[in-house]
Amino acid sequence: MRLVFMGPPGAGKGTQAKAVAEKYGVTHVSSGDIFRTEIAGNTELGGQIKAYLDSGALVPDEITVKAVVGRLGAARGADGWLLDGFPRTQAQAEALDEALEDDGEKLSAVIYLEVDTEIIVKRMAGRRVCPNCGRSYHTEHIPPKVEGTCDACGTRLITRDDDKPETVRQRLATYQQATTPLIEYYDRRGLLIRTDGTGTPDQVRARLFEQLKEVECG
Ligand code: AP5
Ligand code: MG
Repeated sequence: MRLVFMGPPGAGKGTQAKAVAEKYGVTHVSSGDIFRTEIAGNTELGGQIKAYLDSGALVPDEITVKAVVGRLGAARGADGWLLDGFPRTQAQAEALDEALEDDGEKLSAVIYLEVDTEIIVKRMAGRRVCPNCGRSYHTEHIPPKVEGTCDACGTRLITRDDDKPETVRQRLATYQQATTPLIEYYDRRGLLIRTDGTGTPDQVRARLFEQLKEVECG
């Protein structure tokens, strides 16, 4: 299965992508996680991209395509992959199309998680993430068992640098402008699946798994 997860910042892409990747045994590739790992590791790439993430702007296409599409090769021959947060621009979507064509593969579906802005702002304000394993929590909706500590690996949870209100506003504006045209791009090709992203994470997951049954059957 080869899936793309789309949706506004804070829609729950990462939360649901982890569940889907586990269920189907596919590789979860998150562009945001890749970039945050580079920044945390003080690598050359991390230095080039930090200002974009800090301001809520997109990392330039050339850098992003190289960083993300390059990793899909590692999932070749496996049960597939799930792209979370990529593509985000028309140029990235076209680069993905080319990479798929080169490999003689096709996208199975594009999941579009739909959530209203009001809910999104609340979700991001309460988000806490594990800097070690990437799992995300919410102070109110999805609290860890021990306050401030990752259930999975025991690491101290942090607030993402780009979850400040002014950066969240910029990320939402960037999404509207650069990424929403892709909804139609994939819809026209019959690949788009709209998933209601509201409700508890379990409710969203159940909806998603139901919709994915049809994708599985081809
Ligand atoms: P990225 O990391 O992709 O961020 P994003 O798209 O803004 O999305 P988030 O990760 O913030 O949210 P999510 O949808 O994964 O939601 P989550 O599951 O965490 O990108 C960050 C930056 O990197 C970009 O701004 C850009 O600079 C750069 N970048 C990345 N990809 C790029 C690309 N392709 N091109 C160029 N630049 C790129 O959930 C959010 C919160 O809500 C959590 O606290 C969670 O616990 C909680 N939650 C989840 N589901 C529910 C629910 N059902 N009910 C209640 N709470 C919930
Ligand atoms: Mg995410």
